[in-house]
Amino acid sequence: MGSLPRGQRLLPALLALALAACDAGAETEPDPAETGAADTDAEVAPGVPAAFADRGEELWEGGVCTVCHASDAGGTQLGPSLRDGEWNRIDGDMEGLVRVIRDGLADPGEYPVPMPPLGGGDFDEDDVRALAAFLYRLNRPDRP
Ligand code: HEC
Repeated sequence: MGSLPRGQRLLPALLALALAACDAGAETEPDPAETGAADTDAEVAPGVPAAFADRGEELWEGGVCTVCHASDAGGTQLGPSLRDGEWNRIDGDMEGLVRVIRDGLADPGEYPVPMPPLGGGDFDEDDVRALAAFLYRLNRPDRP
């Protein structure tokens, strides 16, 4: 029985170590969108985690973009479809999407009103990238 007390002292110490390891892991691996997506390693585009696109989808659903582009992104009389895989102003890569969303489009082309910067919404740089990631994925159904 001589070894039992030692084991009882060791166990809490081991637990504390394990917990400390968990904490360290949580700090080095922040979830950029805090969506709890199942596959956090999946990427929509190089360097763009799928969780980012999930966040963008939430912003899309609650945002101003749908006024002109429709909730399903299929387009309205005020703005084109953003889900048909065809782009008028950009080539559909992340950079182009980010640029249009951030800066808007002063020249509305065949549409009646210009797209204002940020679509007229209140988005920060992370939000803009999340929205871009969402639209990027929407046009590539094979992506995660
Ligand atoms: C006031 C209406 C309006 C709002 C609000 C709006 N857009 Fe637009 N959007 C437009 C118009 C008009 C165009 C230009 C269409 C054209 O000339 O092909 C456009 C173009 C785009 C394009 C480029 C499409 C292409 O084919 O090249 C993207 C991407 C886009 N919008 C995303 C967004 C996002 C994301 C939001 C919300 C942050 C948003 N838009 C809000 C009207 C709007």
